[in-house]
Amino acid sequence: MRYITLFLFTTVIPTLALAENSTNLDTPTKAILGKLLFNDTQLSEPAGQSCNSCHRADAFHSDPNNMVSPGANPALFGNRNAPAISYIKFNPELYWDDEEQHWVGGFFLDGRAFSLRQQAAGPFTNPLEMGNADNASVVAKVKVATYASMLEELYGEDIWNDETKAMDAITDAIATYESGPEFATFTSKYDYYLKGKVKLTALEQKGLEVFEAEDKGNCAACHPNRVGDNMEPPLFTDFTYDNLGLPRPDKLPFFSMAKSFNSAGEEYVDTGLANNPHIDNASVETGKFKVLTLRNIDKTPPYMHNGIFETLEEVVDFYNTRDVKDSWGKPEIMQNLNTEELGDLKLTDGEVEALVAFMKTLTDGFVPPSKLPPSN
Ligand code: HEC
Ligand code: HEC
Repeated sequence: MRYITLFLFTTVIPTLALAENSTNLDTPTKAILGKLLFNDTQLSEPAGQSCNSCHRADAFHSDPNNMVSPGANPALFGNRNAPAISYIKFNPELYWDDEEQHWVGGFFLDGRAFSLRQQAAGPFTNPLEMGNADNASVVAKVKVATYASMLEELYGEDIWNDETKAMDAITDAIATYESGPEFATFTSKYDYYLKGKVKLTALEQKGLEVFEAEDKGNCAACHPNRVGDNMEPPLFTDFTYDNLGLPRPDKLPFFSMAKSFNSAGEEYVDTGLANNPHIDNASVETGKFKVLTLRNIDKTPPYMHNGIFETLEEVVDFYNTRDVKDSWGKPEIMQNLNTEELGDLKLTDGEVEALVAFMKTLTDGFVPPSKLPPSN
């Protein structure tokens, strides 16, 4: 924990100072600026890639076409599937839950960034993503963008003289956009069902029951689906970490890339939470990844941190039969394998079908019957 305290002092204090200078009245303008930055394909090296390339607004902020998204240099690939980042503003900062004895929250699938702002700085200079050599190159590109004057108005004309200030301003605007209403509409059929405005079909209703029942799917144990104590709508993740025992997706392009860079020819293994430099017990956390939200899940394939599953049927089949069907192959990482809550659920085909039908009610943009135009 000492590690975290030190880290907070060095990186969060400057951004807090920045927040004090600007008023909440600026939020809508910041969000507009953030959206321009998020969509600007001039900010990669070579040009052509934006945040939106991998977190597409028309795909609930995911990349539904790629197991892993190519970088700005299309020959390069990262090691993980681009997660859907709708509802990301509800993701808590990383903390150790003393009562439950486990880690919660943090940004990225191993929780290594402390805030949305800190996360937003990562992709710009990741050689496998937007590919800029350093922050100075990013700032130079933003400085000549059509919206540069908005940054000056919101954050001060002097930002260009100080790379850290400029990056803080850029990431603050992006984080404001990601925290806005466009990213969290709560307009799925299930949301309307929770408000009593629509009924689920018999199959969806059965799926909901299987989802919740501890002796059936038990999905709600990690993907909570009930309205919170203060009427907060459910987020379908408790932001904890688990090793589901996913097999190794040999076709992941990163593996062959990593092997060719490793002089010993060693195979790369993604150890998840153990890769997080801010935790003091990394060695015992290997193989765990953050629980992902199931909101919009039908529209954001492929699934899991390594994009190994293409359909929801496959996902449920895996939870149901991991330990009884040899065809899955062995888990990539055996340590911390969760054998209590999944692996041999004994769900019938009908229950599997119902679970999938239920998950399809989690897609935003549903129009409840009362809002449909009258037919004539
Ligand atoms: C080349 C594809 C790609 C691009 C471009 C990209 N991302 Fe991502 N994004 C990913 C992947 C892959 C992850 C998961 C990486 C990890 O866990 O290490 C991720 C993770 C995230 C997360 C954290 C999600 C979570 O659950 O914690 C956020 C937020 C995010 N990206 C926002 C952005 C922003 C903002 C930009 C632009 C500055 C951006 N991304 C550019 C692929 C991309
Ligand atoms: C013990 C906790 C736990 C339980 C129980 C659980 N999940 Fe998950 N779920 C996770 C974790 C952790 C991930 C991300 C794993 C990874 O990427 O390595 C995940 C990912 C998923 C994904 C993919 C999300 C995405 O965006 O790629 C789906 C779909 C899913 N779970 C559905 C279910 C269903 C359906 C059930 C019940 C049959 C269930 N889960 C039960 C922890 C759990």
